[in-house]
Amino acid sequence: MTIEEKILQMTQWTYGKNANANNIEASKKAVRPEIGSLIYRSVNPVYRNEIMRKAMEQSRLGIPILMGFDVIHGFRTIYPIPLAQACSWNPNLVAKAAAVAAKESKLSGVDWTFSPMIDVARDPRWGRVAEGYGEDPYTNAVFGVASVKGYQGKNLSDTFSIAACLKHYIGYSLSEGGRDYHYADVSAQTLWDTFMPPYEAGVKAGAATLMSAFNDISGVPASANHFTLTDILKQRWKHDGFVVSDWGSIENLIPQGFAKDRKDAALKSFTAGVEMDMVDNIYADNLPLLLKEHRISMKQVDDAVRRILRLKFKLGLFDKPYVEELPEKDRYYQPESMAIARKLAEESMVLLKNDGQTLPIAHNIKQIALIGPMVKDSINIMGSWEGQGMPSSVETIFDGFKKEFQGKTTLNFAKGCDFDGDDESGFNEASIAAKKSDIIVLCLGEMEKWSGENATRSTLALPVIQQHLFSILKQSGKPIILIISNGRPIELGSLNRLSGAILEIWQPGIAGGSAVAGIISGRLNPSGKLAITFPLTTGQIPTYYNMRQSARPKLGGYQDISSEPNYWFGHGLSYTTFSYSKITLSDSIISKNKNLIARVEITNTGLRDGKETAMWFISDPVASVTRPVKELKFFEKKNLKAGEKQTFQFEIDPIRDLSFPDANGVRHLESGEFYIMLNEQKVKFELVD
Ligand code: NOJ
Repeated sequence: MTIEEKILQMTQWTYGKNANANNIEASKKAVRPEIGSLIYRSVNPVYRNEIMRKAMEQSRLGIPILMGFDVIHGFRTIYPIPLAQACSWNPNLVAKAAAVAAKESKLSGVDWTFSPMIDVARDPRWGRVAEGYGEDPYTNAVFGVASVKGYQGKNLSDTFSIAACLKHYIGYSLSEGGRDYHYADVSAQTLWDTFMPPYEAGVKAGAATLMSAFNDISGVPASANHFTLTDILKQRWKHDGFVVSDWGSIENLIPQGFAKDRKDAALKSFTAGVEMDMVDNIYADNLPLLLKEHRISMKQVDDAVRRILRLKFKLGLFDKPYVEELPEKDRYYQPESMAIARKLAEESMVLLKNDGQTLPIAHNIKQIALIGPMVKDSINIMGSWEGQGMPSSVETIFDGFKKEFQGKTTLNFAKGCDFDGDDESGFNEASIAAKKSDIIVLCLGEMEKWSGENATRSTLALPVIQQHLFSILKQSGKPIILIISNGRPIELGSLNRLSGAILEIWQPGIAGGSAVAGIISGRLNPSGKLAITFPLTTGQIPTYYNMRQSARPKLGGYQDISSEPNYWFGHGLSYTTFSYSKITLSDSIISKNKNLIARVEITNTGLRDGKETAMWFISDPVASVTRPVKELKFFEKKNLKAGEKQTFQFEIDPIRDLSFPDANGVRHLESGEFYIMLNEQKVKFELVD
């Protein structure tokens, strides 16, 4: 290969239009047949095949182009946002959803998705918490691996497999104050405790690529960080795939103050270990000169190109560069894909509150006031990064209610107000609807553009107009069931106290409507639990369950508010009740090379079937590096029929579950006392040498 051919392989341009405000500067240059990769924004396999034909037939070497796209929670059949998916605690279902997304993508011309995002959430003001799996490293690891497996299938060369991309490597979610793209002060200990575990798991699961993040990690930007990109990823973890920069993140080294010009930026990113440049054209412009000046070597270039070509071979693109040109009806919304969309929406919704069994609504309810800007919404309910989703395919909350309650209950609809602004002209109609009805179902929430990229918010509270609508309706004296749809935890304020029940539906995707209606009517029993804590107020941030112990645990909280959040990680109610037996351990003292088995029997003590997730935490009260108060190590979700009892079990492997990393990422297993925690229980055991 010539130098130009090699460097073009390391270059990614865009093809097609995109609505993302941050991507408006997209390169509109004509596609070079030698280009390594394109961000491909079409749904038409015919286009893909046309561009591909250009590469195969008009370039000297006939190297196929790798077509990448942000398939984040579905391609056309849109699933709940990733944060919601985590609340399902059902990784098998998430893997199935990713497999459908892969199939629809592949059939439309995409070979590579920029997903999963496994940046552990720390500050919910950061809009991108919607795109990840919440505040726990283990949860991010499990769901990250599930989606990698779903996307990549058994073999990358399988007809419907696409390559995954772990992003954003690394520390991005710690951007100061939740402000996107900002500096992140990530200590070495936090890097290993919190951020590395999901990436290490994803790499082990075979993720083909990673994306380097925008943020500056403690002085060295993530897209020029030799330590994370080369020492850890390539040398310690032996990743043989490649790293793509984030959009413009190489050139961003200049405003970050790490590179003096484009050439310096290209040098720093490339030598740190970023193999592909997303849209900057910065490698194409500068690497040839840097080679001539011997600032980089041909060996380094060859290694980068080899990594990119290896993926193209693994995907089978050289043998099968073209995709089948099927009509849309044979590609999207297949019955099994829709069944997964429905099930994932159902399982990811979290019943936060249910005073006096407000829900499910009683059979004698004759009229429901269905109020709020979310009721008939078909755009925001899909969430940010909605792929190629179509509002026309969305089953709105209104559609769901109509189907659910038709012929049984009258629905009195009123929009009430918009998501934001100060137009109160709809309040009157909403009050009338409330007065006529026995109960109010109020659907509030966030617009899709309030979360996702560059969507930082200074407050987690709902806009004043929505809160005001709530107060007006409260005056009717009718019970309010609050349904909230959002991409981050919400500061509920007085709405928490004044609502009879609260159902968090997140942004549930195209099949959300019937899932909401089914839970409200009682046809479905909610089983989601929070993968992220709901702080009491925005000022209480950061609040996450796996914090480290304070020097004076009972003191030091904010003096003006409680130290408890509104709802902790793991919270979620059901229409049935579960009782937990005492935890039994196979031993109370174990040695380092022996596993310990913890068991509990959970009984469904209520009158209806339900699913329960057992979350097993470990606490290590004294260690040479202080540990979080508790850490989730295993979870399992099972269906229990009314009255049924089942054993849940966690096999503790000391090396995996009781060791901890130091600031260099070296793991230590120290003898001493540990606790296993589940629900309210805390049982001690000892690890001896
Ligand atoms: C920027 C975002 O940070 C990243 O997540 C995304 O994959 C790329 N743009 C490509 O759209």
